[in-house]
Amino acid sequence: MARNRRQLSGPSITFLFLALLLHFDSGTSDLQLNYYSESCPRAEEIIKQQVVNLYHKHGNTAVSWIRNLFHDCMVKSCDASLLLVTANGVESEELSSRSFGMRNFKYVDTIKKAVESECPQTVSCADIVALSARDGFVLLGGPYIEMKTGRRDSKESYATMVEDSIPNHNDSMSLVLSRFESIGIDAEGTVALLGAHSVGRVHCVNIVNRLYPTVDPTLDPEHAEYLKRRCPSPEPDPKAVQYARNDLETPMVLDNMYYKNILSHKGLLLVDQQLVSDPTTSPFVEKMADDKGYFHDQFSRALLLLSENNPLTGDDGEIRKDCRYVNV
Ligand code: HEM
Ligand SMILES: *[C@@H]1O[C@H](CO)[C@@H](O)[C@H](O)[C@H]1NC(C)=O
Repeated sequence: MARNRRQLSGPSITFLFLALLLHFDSGTSDLQLNYYSESCPRAEEIIKQQVVNLYHKHGNTAVSWIRNLFHDCMVKSCDASLLLVTANGVESEELSSRSFGMRNFKYVDTIKKAVESECPQTVSCADIVALSARDGFVLLGGPYIEMKTGRRDSKESYATMVEDSIPNHNDSMSLVLSRFESIGIDAEGTVALLGAHSVGRVHCVNIVNRLYPTVDPTLDPEHAEYLKRRCPSPEPDPKAVQYARNDLETPMVLDNMYYKNILSHKGLLLVDQQLVSDPTTSPFVEKMADDKGYFHDQFSRALLLLSENNPLTGDDGEIRKDCRYVNV
């Protein structure tokens, strides 16, 4: 008794009280591992199964899941606002020019349907966006990362914020770094995340400014010839599906080829090439080009930070029935 009293006296009580206060005040990270362990124990397994099935039918879905996480989480919050279509006063974020080329949204619905049939209105679309990126990364050759869940879905779209959140293909590196810094991702993490451009494609609209009227001198001349063959017109028809692949050697592997490519001036976007010329980012580029394990560690770390940006939790937001529409 006496011992207990001593332990809880004076400073320790104050400390406990402060700790409790801090605990209840830290609203930002109410995400937790296995959030659905009781409400829908097989949720993560079902999502993974669907991601694997879709990958075997349409390999590039895995690529889309990685880009979706960036475009959802970077804009305000990881809240599936990205998925909302234009309807009932909602203006879709997909209409922004920053979202150009995004694809496979209909297969998010495939995943959601599978989850809904086991656990109706329990698992959020925001968690599907996050977990599908995690599982897609594995299919693209990355390590498996544990990811917290418990995100809820937004009741609105943030279409007007997209351009201020997602950098453009030709923005300066200092702007790019400050955007990521604003959500707690440092230069090393930013360099790693851009390694996502080791997979997938870029449409000609995002490349031609480096080819016409004159070829950007920071572009490898032979690679420029290849890109000109892929994009023969300085004004590509936005409806024509003309694009170049990011990585010609391992286009479907999220490996460190990206860094080797940009070091040999074969990056497609101006921002890709600037990672090499900017003194803040170039040391990380060299290190990632040399060491795939280090790249994967940094990519995983930064992907988790991205996936935990400002989520809606608790009673905020909702669990959408259909990922493309706010509940009625
Ligand atoms: C400065 C930051 C970034 C800029 C300016 C940027 C810009 C772009 C552009 C212009 C495209 C090509 C779109 C097209 O023409 O089809 C693209 C593709 C892609 N981006 Fe980024 N991006 C950035 C960061 C990221 C990050 C952080 C990720 C994920 C971690 C990411 C993942 C992807 C993926 C996977 C693709 C290929 C999509 C596909 O083939 O369907 N990007 N990005
Ligand atoms: C960046 O590219 C856009 C087209 O996507 C163009 O309108 C703009 O002028 C370019 N900005 C710079 C600084 O080159």
